[in-house]
Amino acid sequence: MTTDTTGTVARDGDSRPGGPADSPFIRACRRRPVPRTPVWFMRQAGRSLPEYREIRASVPMLESCRRPELVTEITLQPVRRHGVDAAILFSDIVVPVAAAGIDLDIVPGTGPVVAEPIRAAADVERIRPITRDDVSYVDEAVRQLVVELGDTPLIGFAGAPFTLASYLVEGGPSRTHAKTKALMYGDPELWHALCARLADVTLAFLRVQIEAGVSAVQLFDSWAGALSEADYRRFVLPHSTTVLSGLASAGVPRIHFGVGTAELLGAMGEAGADVVGVDWRTPLDVATGRIGPDKTVQGNLDPCVLLAPWPVVEAEVRRILTQGRAAPGHVFNLGHGVLPETDPDVLTRVVALVHELSSRRADQG
Ligand code: CP3
Repeated sequence: MTTDTTGTVARDGDSRPGGPADSPFIRACRRRPVPRTPVWFMRQAGRSLPEYREIRASVPMLESCRRPELVTEITLQPVRRHGVDAAILFSDIVVPVAAAGIDLDIVPGTGPVVAEPIRAAADVERIRPITRDDVSYVDEAVRQLVVELGDTPLIGFAGAPFTLASYLVEGGPSRTHAKTKALMYGDPELWHALCARLADVTLAFLRVQIEAGVSAVQLFDSWAGALSEADYRRFVLPHSTTVLSGLASAGVPRIHFGVGTAELLGAMGEAGADVVGVDWRTPLDVATGRIGPDKTVQGNLDPCVLLAPWPVVEAEVRRILTQGRAAPGHVFNLGHGVLPETDPDVLTRVVALVHELSSRRADQG
Protein backbone atom coordinates (compact mmCIF):
# COMPACT_ATOMS: atom_id res chain seq x y z
CA MET A 1 0.00 0.00 0.00
CA THR A 2 1.36 3.46 -0.88
CA THR A 3 0.68 6.79 0.77
CA ASP A 4 0.90 10.06 -1.14
CA THR A 5 1.74 13.44 0.37
CA THR A 6 -1.89 14.12 1.28
CA GLY A 7 -2.02 10.92 3.31
CA THR A 8 -4.33 9.26 0.79
CA VAL A 9 -3.88 5.52 0.72
CA ALA A 10 -3.86 3.89 -2.69
CA ARG A 11 -5.07 0.33 -2.88
CA ASP A 12 -3.10 -0.45 -6.05
CA GLY A 13 -0.03 -1.37 -4.01
CA ASP A 14 -2.06 -3.80 -1.92
CA SER A 15 -1.17 -6.97 -3.72
CA ARG A 16 2.59 -6.46 -3.88
CA PRO A 17 4.48 -9.52 -2.63
CA GLY A 18 4.65 -9.39 1.14
CA GLY A 19 1.99 -6.63 1.37
CA PRO A 20 -1.24 -7.00 3.37
CA ALA A 21 -3.13 -8.66 0.49
CA ASP A 22 -0.34 -11.24 0.23
CA SER A 23 -0.28 -11.89 3.99
CA PRO A 24 -0.98 -15.36 5.41
CA PHE A 25 -4.30 -14.07 6.81
CA ILE A 26 -5.66 -12.74 3.51
CA ARG A 27 -4.27 -15.71 1.59
CA ALA A 28 -6.06 -18.10 3.97
CA CYS A 29 -9.31 -16.12 3.56
CA ARG A 30 -8.91 -16.54 -0.21
CA ARG A 31 -8.14 -20.28 0.10
CA ARG A 32 -4.62 -19.77 -1.26
CA PRO A 33 -1.56 -21.69 0.00
CA VAL A 34 -0.08 -20.22 3.19
CA PRO A 35 3.39 -20.45 4.77
CA ARG A 36 1.70 -20.94 8.18
CA THR A 37 -1.82 -20.91 9.59
CA PRO A 38 -2.65 -17.28 10.42
CA VAL A 39 -4.02 -16.44 13.86
CA TRP A 40 -5.78 -13.48 15.48
CA PHE A 41 -8.23 -13.27 18.37
CA MET A 42 -11.66 -11.71 18.56
CA ARG A 43 -11.50 -9.02 21.27
CA GLN A 44 -7.70 -9.17 21.22
CA ALA A 45 -7.71 -5.43 21.89
CA GLY A 46 -9.23 -4.89 25.28
CA ARG A 47 -9.53 -5.77 28.87
CA SER A 48 -7.06 -8.67 28.97
CA LEU A 49 -4.25 -6.15 28.37
CA PRO A 50 -2.94 -3.93 31.22
CA GLU A 51 -1.82 -1.33 28.67
CA TYR A 52 -5.45 -1.12 27.44
CA ARG A 53 -6.86 -0.80 30.96
CA GLU A 54 -4.43 2.02 31.64
CA ILE A 55 -5.67 4.03 28.65
CA ARG A 56 -9.31 3.33 29.42
CA ALA A 57 -9.02 4.22 33.14
CA SER A 58 -9.72 7.86 32.31
CA VAL A 59 -11.72 7.63 29.04
CA PRO A 60 -15.28 6.23 28.63
CA MET A 61 -15.69 3.43 26.07
CA LEU A 62 -17.59 5.33 23.36
CA GLU A 63 -15.31 8.33 23.66
CA SER A 64 -12.28 6.07 23.18
CA CYS A 65 -13.85 4.79 19.94
CA ARG A 66 -14.21 8.38 18.71
CA ARG A 67 -10.61 9.48 19.29
CA PRO A 68 -8.49 8.32 16.34
CA GLU A 69 -5.20 8.48 18.26
CA LEU A 70 -6.63 6.19 20.96
CA VAL A 71 -8.23 3.83 18.41
CA THR A 72 -4.87 3.55 16.67
CA GLU A 73 -2.91 2.90 19.86
CA ILE A 74 -5.41 0.34 21.26
CA THR A 75 -5.63 -1.49 17.92
CA LEU A 76 -1.82 -1.77 17.74
CA GLN A 77 -1.33 -3.01 21.31
CA PRO A 78 -2.14 -6.71 20.72
CA VAL A 79 -0.22 -6.73 17.42
CA ARG A 80 2.95 -5.53 19.18
CA ARG A 81 2.48 -7.84 22.13
CA HIS A 82 1.32 -11.10 20.56
CA GLY A 83 2.60 -10.99 16.97
CA VAL A 84 -0.86 -11.86 15.62
CA ASP A 85 -1.36 -12.07 11.84
CA ALA A 86 -4.05 -9.38 11.72
CA ALA A 87 -5.19 -6.34 13.66
CA ILE A 88 -8.87 -5.68 14.32
CA LEU A 89 -10.03 -2.09 14.46
CA PHE A 90 -10.84 -0.98 17.99
CA SER A 91 -14.47 0.12 17.94
CA ASP A 92 -17.82 -1.39 18.89
CA ILE A 93 -20.84 -2.68 17.01
CA VAL A 94 -23.00 0.13 18.42
CA VAL A 95 -20.71 2.94 17.19
CA PRO A 96 -22.49 3.36 13.79
CA VAL A 97 -25.91 3.09 15.46
CA ALA A 98 -24.99 5.96 17.77
CA ALA A 99 -23.72 7.85 14.71
CA ALA A 100 -27.11 7.21 13.07
CA GLY A 101 -28.81 9.17 15.85
CA ILE A 102 -29.71 6.58 18.50
CA ASP A 103 -29.03 7.68 22.08
CA LEU A 104 -27.03 4.88 23.71
CA ASP A 105 -24.09 4.20 25.96
CA ILE A 106 -21.75 1.29 26.69
CA VAL A 107 -22.03 0.64 30.41
CA PRO A 108 -19.01 -1.10 32.01
CA GLY A 109 -19.82 -4.67 33.01
CA THR A 110 -23.19 -4.54 31.20
CA GLY A 111 -22.68 -3.62 27.55
CA PRO A 112 -24.70 -1.38 25.23
CA VAL A 113 -27.73 0.33 26.84
CA VAL A 114 -30.24 2.20 24.65
CA ALA A 115 -32.06 5.20 26.16
CA GLU A 116 -35.31 4.73 24.21
CA PRO A 117 -35.68 1.19 22.82
CA ILE A 118 -37.16 0.67 19.36
CA ARG A 119 -40.66 -0.78 19.50
CA ALA A 120 -42.75 1.04 16.83
CA ALA A 121 -42.56 2.30 13.24
CA ALA A 122 -41.89 5.87 14.42
CA ASP A 123 -38.86 4.57 16.34
CA VAL A 124 -37.37 3.03 13.20
CA GLU A 125 -37.47 6.48 11.59
CA ARG A 126 -35.06 7.68 14.28
CA ILE A 127 -32.29 5.58 12.67
CA ARG A 128 -30.83 7.95 10.07
CA PRO A 129 -28.62 6.83 7.17
CA ILE A 130 -24.94 7.55 7.87
CA THR A 131 -22.22 9.07 5.71
CA ARG A 132 -18.47 9.16 6.14
CA ASP A 133 -18.79 12.52 7.95
CA ASP A 134 -20.83 10.85 10.69
CA VAL A 135 -17.95 8.46 11.42
CA SER A 136 -14.98 10.58 10.31
CA TYR A 137 -13.04 9.41 13.40
CA VAL A 138 -13.20 5.82 12.08
CA ASP A 139 -12.07 6.92 8.62
CA GLU A 140 -9.16 8.81 10.16
CA ALA A 141 -8.16 5.98 12.51
CA VAL A 142 -8.17 3.39 9.71
CA ARG A 143 -5.98 5.61 7.51
CA GLN A 144 -3.48 6.08 10.34
CA LEU A 145 -3.53 2.37 11.16
CA VAL A 146 -2.91 1.21 7.61
CA VAL A 147 0.27 3.28 7.59
CA GLU A 148 1.39 2.10 11.04
CA LEU A 149 0.62 -1.57 10.35
CA GLY A 150 2.58 -1.81 7.11
CA ASP A 151 2.30 -5.41 5.92
CA THR A 152 -0.04 -6.56 8.72
CA PRO A 153 -3.65 -6.57 7.50
CA LEU A 154 -6.33 -4.59 9.35
CA ILE A 155 -9.78 -6.12 9.82
CA GLY A 156 -12.74 -3.75 9.83
CA PHE A 157 -16.04 -4.87 11.34
CA ALA A 158 -19.67 -4.14 12.03
CA GLY A 159 -22.60 -5.75 13.82
CA ALA A 160 -25.12 -7.63 11.68
CA PRO A 161 -28.76 -6.47 11.56
CA PHE A 162 -30.13 -9.15 13.94
CA THR A 163 -27.57 -8.57 16.69
CA LEU A 164 -27.93 -4.78 16.40
CA ALA A 165 -31.73 -5.07 16.37
CA SER A 166 -31.58 -7.15 19.54
CA TYR A 167 -29.77 -4.38 21.46
CA LEU A 168 -32.10 -1.72 20.05
CA VAL A 169 -35.35 -3.57 20.77
CA GLU A 170 -34.36 -4.98 24.17
CA GLY A 171 -32.73 -1.71 25.23
CA GLY A 172 -29.67 -3.66 26.38
CA PRO A 173 -28.16 -7.15 26.55
CA SER A 174 -30.66 -10.01 26.81
CA ARG A 175 -30.33 -13.73 27.48
CA THR A 176 -33.57 -14.76 25.73
CA HIS A 177 -33.99 -11.97 23.12
CA ALA A 178 -37.69 -12.20 24.08
CA LYS A 179 -38.74 -8.67 23.10
CA THR A 180 -36.79 -8.94 19.87
CA LYS A 181 -38.47 -12.22 18.92
CA ALA A 182 -41.89 -10.91 19.99
CA LEU A 183 -41.49 -8.03 17.53
CA MET A 184 -40.12 -10.33 14.82
CA TYR A 185 -43.03 -12.79 15.07
CA GLY A 186 -45.70 -10.24 15.97
CA ASP A 187 -44.98 -7.54 13.41
CA PRO A 188 -42.86 -8.95 10.57
CA GLU A 189 -43.32 -5.81 8.50
CA LEU A 190 -41.88 -3.59 11.21
CA TRP A 191 -39.13 -6.15 11.83
CA HIS A 192 -38.08 -6.11 8.19
CA ALA A 193 -38.21 -2.31 8.08
CA LEU A 194 -35.94 -2.12 11.13
CA CYS A 195 -33.45 -4.67 9.76
CA ALA A 196 -33.40 -3.04 6.32
CA ARG A 197 -32.44 0.26 7.92
CA LEU A 198 -29.77 -1.37 10.05
CA ALA A 199 -28.41 -3.16 6.98
CA ASP A 200 -28.03 0.22 5.25
CA VAL A 201 -26.18 1.71 8.23
CA THR A 202 -23.93 -1.35 8.48
CA LEU A 203 -23.17 -1.38 4.78
CA ALA A 204 -22.30 2.33 4.80
CA PHE A 205 -20.11 1.85 7.89
CA LEU A 206 -18.19 -1.03 6.31
CA ARG A 207 -17.76 0.90 3.05
CA VAL A 208 -16.15 3.78 4.95
CA GLN A 209 -13.69 1.33 6.51
CA ILE A 210 -12.93 -0.35 3.18
CA GLU A 211 -12.39 2.98 1.41
CA ALA A 212 -10.03 4.01 4.21
CA GLY A 213 -7.98 0.86 3.63
CA VAL A 214 -9.00 -2.16 5.75
CA SER A 215 -7.91 -5.47 4.19
CA ALA A 216 -10.90 -7.57 5.32
CA VAL A 217 -14.21 -7.11 7.13
CA GLN A 218 -16.01 -9.20 9.73
CA LEU A 219 -19.77 -9.06 10.19
CA PHE A 220 -20.58 -10.02 13.79
CA ASP A 221 -23.99 -11.67 14.18
CA SER A 222 -23.09 -12.71 17.69
CA TRP A 223 -26.62 -13.56 18.83
CA ALA A 224 -28.05 -15.17 15.64
CA GLY A 225 -27.66 -18.57 17.29
CA ALA A 226 -30.81 -17.76 19.28
CA LEU A 227 -32.85 -18.54 16.14
CA SER A 228 -33.91 -21.74 14.36
CA GLU A 229 -32.60 -22.16 10.84
CA ALA A 230 -36.08 -21.55 9.39
CA ASP A 231 -36.51 -18.29 11.30
CA TYR A 232 -32.94 -17.25 10.50
CA ARG A 233 -33.63 -17.75 6.80
CA ARG A 234 -36.91 -15.85 6.91
CA PHE A 235 -36.09 -12.97 9.24
CA VAL A 236 -32.33 -12.44 9.13
CA LEU A 237 -30.62 -13.92 6.07
CA PRO A 238 -32.06 -11.40 3.57
CA HIS A 239 -30.67 -8.48 5.58
CA SER A 240 -27.25 -9.98 6.24
CA THR A 241 -27.16 -10.76 2.50
CA THR A 242 -27.81 -7.08 1.74
CA VAL A 243 -24.67 -6.23 3.68
CA LEU A 244 -22.34 -9.01 2.52
CA SER A 245 -23.39 -9.14 -1.11
CA GLY A 246 -23.31 -5.34 -1.15
CA LEU A 247 -19.56 -5.68 -0.61
CA ALA A 248 -19.03 -8.37 -3.26
CA SER A 249 -17.12 -6.03 -5.56
CA ALA A 250 -15.23 -4.23 -2.79
CA GLY A 251 -12.23 -6.51 -3.20
CA VAL A 252 -11.76 -7.55 0.44
CA PRO A 253 -12.61 -10.90 2.07
CA ARG A 254 -15.82 -10.96 4.12
CA ILE A 255 -15.98 -12.96 7.37
CA HIS A 256 -19.33 -13.82 8.96
CA PHE A 257 -19.43 -14.91 12.60
CA GLY A 258 -21.97 -15.86 15.23
CA VAL A 259 -22.13 -17.83 18.49
CA GLY A 260 -24.17 -21.03 18.92
CA THR A 261 -24.69 -21.19 15.17
CA ALA A 262 -24.08 -24.94 14.57
CA GLU A 263 -27.47 -25.22 12.82
CA LEU A 264 -26.95 -21.99 10.86
CA LEU A 265 -23.45 -22.43 9.45
CA GLY A 266 -24.62 -23.30 5.93
CA ALA A 267 -27.10 -20.43 5.82
CA MET A 268 -24.58 -17.93 7.20
CA GLY A 269 -22.18 -18.90 4.42
CA GLU A 270 -24.96 -18.37 1.87
CA ALA A 271 -25.32 -14.76 3.03
CA GLY A 272 -22.22 -14.01 0.96
CA ALA A 273 -19.23 -14.67 3.21
CA ASP A 274 -15.79 -15.82 2.07
CA VAL A 275 -15.02 -17.02 5.59
CA VAL A 276 -17.40 -18.42 8.21
CA GLY A 277 -16.51 -18.07 11.89
CA VAL A 278 -17.28 -21.14 14.01
CA ASP A 279 -17.68 -21.27 17.79
CA TRP A 280 -16.16 -24.04 19.93
CA ARG A 281 -19.27 -26.25 19.89
CA THR A 282 -18.74 -27.52 16.34
CA PRO A 283 -15.45 -29.20 15.34
CA LEU A 284 -14.00 -27.48 12.27
CA ASP A 285 -14.14 -30.65 10.11
CA VAL A 286 -17.86 -31.02 10.90
CA ALA A 287 -18.35 -27.28 10.32
CA THR A 288 -16.73 -27.38 6.89
CA GLY A 289 -19.07 -30.24 5.94
CA ARG A 290 -21.99 -27.91 6.71
CA ILE A 291 -20.52 -24.76 5.16
CA GLY A 292 -19.26 -26.41 1.98
CA PRO A 293 -15.88 -26.76 0.27
CA ASP A 294 -15.72 -23.22 -1.13
CA LYS A 295 -15.25 -21.28 2.12
CA THR A 296 -12.50 -20.77 4.66
CA VAL A 297 -13.34 -21.47 8.30
CA GLN A 298 -12.25 -19.32 11.24
CA GLY A 299 -11.99 -20.55 14.82
CA ASN A 300 -12.50 -22.18 17.22
CA LEU A 301 -10.71 -22.50 20.55
CA ASP A 302 -13.05 -22.16 23.53
CA PRO A 303 -11.95 -18.88 25.22
CA CYS A 304 -12.28 -20.64 28.59
CA VAL A 305 -9.58 -23.15 27.60
CA LEU A 306 -7.09 -20.26 27.87
CA LEU A 307 -7.75 -20.26 31.61
CA ALA A 308 -6.63 -23.93 31.91
CA PRO A 309 -3.05 -25.23 32.43
CA TRP A 310 -0.78 -24.95 29.38
CA PRO A 311 -0.78 -28.69 28.42
CA VAL A 312 -4.57 -28.48 28.03
CA VAL A 313 -4.26 -25.38 25.83
CA GLU A 314 -1.57 -27.03 23.72
CA ALA A 315 -3.62 -30.20 23.16
CA GLU A 316 -6.64 -28.14 22.10
CA VAL A 317 -4.59 -26.00 19.70
CA ARG A 318 -3.23 -29.18 18.10
CA ARG A 319 -6.71 -30.68 17.76
CA ILE A 320 -8.09 -27.52 16.13
CA LEU A 321 -5.20 -27.25 13.66
CA THR A 322 -5.75 -30.89 12.67
CA GLN A 323 -9.51 -30.51 12.26
CA GLY A 324 -8.99 -27.21 10.39
CA ARG A 325 -7.10 -29.11 7.69
CA ALA A 326 -10.44 -30.48 6.49
CA ALA A 327 -11.37 -26.97 5.27
CA PRO A 328 -10.00 -25.32 2.12
CA GLY A 329 -8.59 -22.54 4.33
CA HIS A 330 -8.25 -22.04 8.08
CA VAL A 331 -7.79 -18.87 10.11
CA PHE A 332 -7.04 -19.80 13.73
CA ASN A 333 -9.10 -17.82 16.28
CA LEU A 334 -11.16 -18.32 19.40
CA GLY A 335 -14.78 -19.47 19.24
CA HIS A 336 -15.76 -16.08 20.76
CA GLY A 337 -13.95 -13.08 22.26
CA VAL A 338 -11.01 -13.10 24.68
CA LEU A 339 -12.28 -13.09 28.28
CA PRO A 340 -11.02 -10.15 30.39
CA GLU A 341 -9.43 -12.50 32.96
CA THR A 342 -7.20 -14.17 30.32
CA ASP A 343 -3.45 -14.06 30.97
CA PRO A 344 -2.08 -12.19 27.92
CA ASP A 345 1.09 -14.31 28.00
CA VAL A 346 -1.02 -17.38 27.20
CA LEU A 347 -2.34 -15.62 24.08
CA THR A 348 1.23 -14.85 23.01
CA ARG A 349 2.18 -18.52 23.50
CA VAL A 350 -0.83 -19.67 21.46
CA VAL A 351 0.24 -17.47 18.54
CA ALA A 352 3.76 -18.92 18.66
CA LEU A 353 2.43 -22.47 18.91
CA VAL A 354 0.02 -22.09 15.99
CA HIS A 355 2.85 -20.70 13.88
CA GLU A 356 5.31 -23.39 14.93
CA LEU A 357 2.97 -26.33 14.40
CA SER A 358 1.57 -25.10 11.09
CA SER A 359 4.98 -24.12 9.63
CA ARG A 360 6.41 -27.50 10.53
CA ARG A 361 3.52 -29.09 8.69
CA ALA A 362 4.40 -27.07 5.57
CA ASP A 363 8.07 -28.13 5.87
CA GLN A 364 6.96 -31.73 5.80
CA GLY A 365 5.30 -30.97 2.50
O1 CP3 B 1 -10.31 -6.45 19.76
C1 CP3 B 1 -11.43 -6.41 19.22
O2 CP3 B 1 -12.06 -7.44 18.94
C2 CP3 B 1 -11.98 -5.07 18.78
C3 CP3 B 1 -12.88 -4.47 19.64
C4 CP3 B 1 -14.36 -4.86 19.78
C5 CP3 B 1 -15.11 -4.34 20.86
N1 CP3 B 1 -16.41 -4.69 20.66
C6 CP3 B 1 -14.56 -3.51 21.94
C7 CP3 B 1 -15.25 -3.53 23.23
C8 CP3 B 1 -15.22 -5.59 18.98
C9 CP3 B 1 -14.91 -6.39 17.73
C10 CP3 B 1 -16.52 -5.48 19.56
C11 CP3 B 1 -17.73 -6.07 18.96
C12 CP3 B 1 -18.91 -6.27 19.80
N2 CP3 B 1 -19.46 -5.41 20.73
C13 CP3 B 1 -19.77 -7.37 19.68
C14 CP3 B 1 -19.59 -8.51 18.72
C15 CP3 B 1 -18.54 -9.43 19.18
C16 CP3 B 1 -18.94 -10.34 20.31
O3 CP3 B 1 -18.26 -10.29 21.33
O4 CP3 B 1 -19.90 -11.09 20.14
C17 CP3 B 1 -20.82 -7.21 20.60
C18 CP3 B 1 -21.97 -8.16 20.85
C19 CP3 B 1 -20.61 -5.94 21.24
C20 CP3 B 1 -21.47 -5.29 22.27
C21 CP3 B 1 -20.68 -5.09 23.50
N3 CP3 B 1 -19.82 -4.02 23.71
C22 CP3 B 1 -20.57 -5.95 24.64
C23 CP3 B 1 -21.34 -7.23 24.82
C24 CP3 B 1 -19.63 -5.37 25.51
C25 CP3 B 1 -19.08 -5.94 26.79
C26 CP3 B 1 -19.80 -5.43 28.01
C27 CP3 B 1 -19.01 -5.70 29.27
O5 CP3 B 1 -18.45 -4.72 29.81
O6 CP3 B 1 -18.93 -6.86 29.68
C28 CP3 B 1 -19.18 -4.18 24.91
C29 CP3 B 1 -18.16 -3.26 25.44
C30 CP3 B 1 -16.83 -3.40 24.80
N4 CP3 B 1 -16.61 -3.43 23.46
C31 CP3 B 1 -15.60 -3.48 25.49
C32 CP3 B 1 -14.60 -3.55 24.51
C33 CP3 B 1 -13.11 -3.60 24.70
C34 CP3 B 1 -15.42 -3.45 26.98
C35 CP3 B 1 -15.42 -2.03 27.40
C36 CP3 B 1 -14.52 -1.81 28.55
O7 CP3 B 1 -13.30 -1.90 28.35
O8 CP3 B 1 -15.05 -1.52 29.62
